[in-house]
Amino acid sequence: MVEYYLTVQSAIILVEGYETSDDQERRSTLFYLCLVRVRAYALFRLTTARYLVTGGAGFIGSHIAEALLDRGESVRIFDNLSTGSQTNLAVLQGRAEFVQGDLRNFDAVREAMTGVEVVFHQGAMASVPRSIAHPIESLETNINGTQHVLLAARDAGVRRVVYASSSSIYGNTPTLPKYEQMPPHPMSPYAVHKLTGELLCEMFTRLYGLETVALRYFNVFGPRQDPTSEYAAVIPRFLTALLQKRRPIVFGDGEQTRDFTYIANVVQANLLAATSLDAVGHPLNIGCGERISLNTVLRVAGELLGVATNAEYREPRPADVRDSLADISLAQRLLSYKPTIRFREGLARTLDALRRDTASHLNR
Ligand SMILES: NC(=O)c1ccc[n+]([C@@H]2O[C@H](COP(=O)([O-])OP(=O)(O)OC[C@H]3O[C@@H](n4cnc5c(N)ncnc54)[C@H](O)[C@@H]3O)[C@@H](O)[C@H]2O)c1
Repeated sequence: MVEYYLTVQSAIILVEGYETSDDQERRSTLFYLCLVRVRAYALFRLTTARYLVTGGAGFIGSHIAEALLDRGESVRIFDNLSTGSQTNLAVLQGRAEFVQGDLRNFDAVREAMTGVEVVFHQGAMASVPRSIAHPIESLETNINGTQHVLLAARDAGVRRVVYASSSSIYGNTPTLPKYEQMPPHPMSPYAVHKLTGELLCEMFTRLYGLETVALRYFNVFGPRQDPTSEYAAVIPRFLTALLQKRRPIVFGDGEQTRDFTYIANVVQANLLAATSLDAVGHPLNIGCGERISLNTVLRVAGELLGVATNAEYREPRPADVRDSLADISLAQRLLSYKPTIRFREGLARTLDALRRDTASHLNR
């Protein structure tokens, strides 16, 4: 910016000091240079976001964007607002540049990549049941969209792409905890598509030297996770039902377990993954290493709220994994990742945020 400004400014001074008999020509030259200055500034504004967060209007992406902005970084968000929201963007208080676009549109992705150094690729159709209901859209967004991000990043000279992968790629194997070298057994379109995204990342690192790190998230939860969609994740569904004095619905017997991971831990892992040299080319588990059943989630939520939970149990859903637990030793070693917020504390924070949202919604 400074360079652009100085160049144009000195050109103006030169023209201003230049003695010419034709004042009209001098005025139009000045006008033209002013236009150049305005355009150079506009171009500068479009080319200076150091970080691109795809899916930045969604749950995880908006937290990553917020953490970057709080560090004083410049951030561009690319999102089609399909499951992300303006409300999540409002939290960022206009500090990030927002580009509304679709990952399936290569030209749009390419344009959003201008000037970027690091991409946090969070944008996806992020749900197992939704991918079963809409497998084509899931494939186009999660595989083609990821390939678009990687190609555009390669061409724009991006230094690194951090990719949001998923523990769902492990499937229903009985071995616990899940470790990165295990053979994947994806059981849903979503899991196949997420795994393919990982493979694309690895291939781009090997073939083109584009630095990539894939983070396999284990059941992330926290504020801003959508509780309303028919595909909502289990924790926001349970908490909202309890706050609204409805019976939470459990698919299965409730004894299935997950490594529920509070959002702050996932943000920490992403920021570390943007710089760690050792992590490049490795898929890494991001969880807490704690195995918690859905019935435990309900019990702790009931304790925090001081209510009886009285859940309604229904048939298990297709492609639901029975148990999931992360071995996080590789992320600890390669990223120095260390979960700081444990399950109970995370659940309490999520409840507080949901209560605040409900109160501000009622006051509107
Ligand atoms: N939440 C979890 O527990 C979890 C677990 C494993 C992996 N992940 C991965 O983390 C990432 C973020 O998930 P989330 O929970 O924040 O979900 P989310 O639905 O809140 O966020 C996804 C974002 O991507 C955007 N998006 C979807 N399709 C798009 C398209 N075609 N073009 C542009 N933007 C598009 C949505 O509008 C949304 O803002 C996803 O890649 C997901 O697969 C999440």
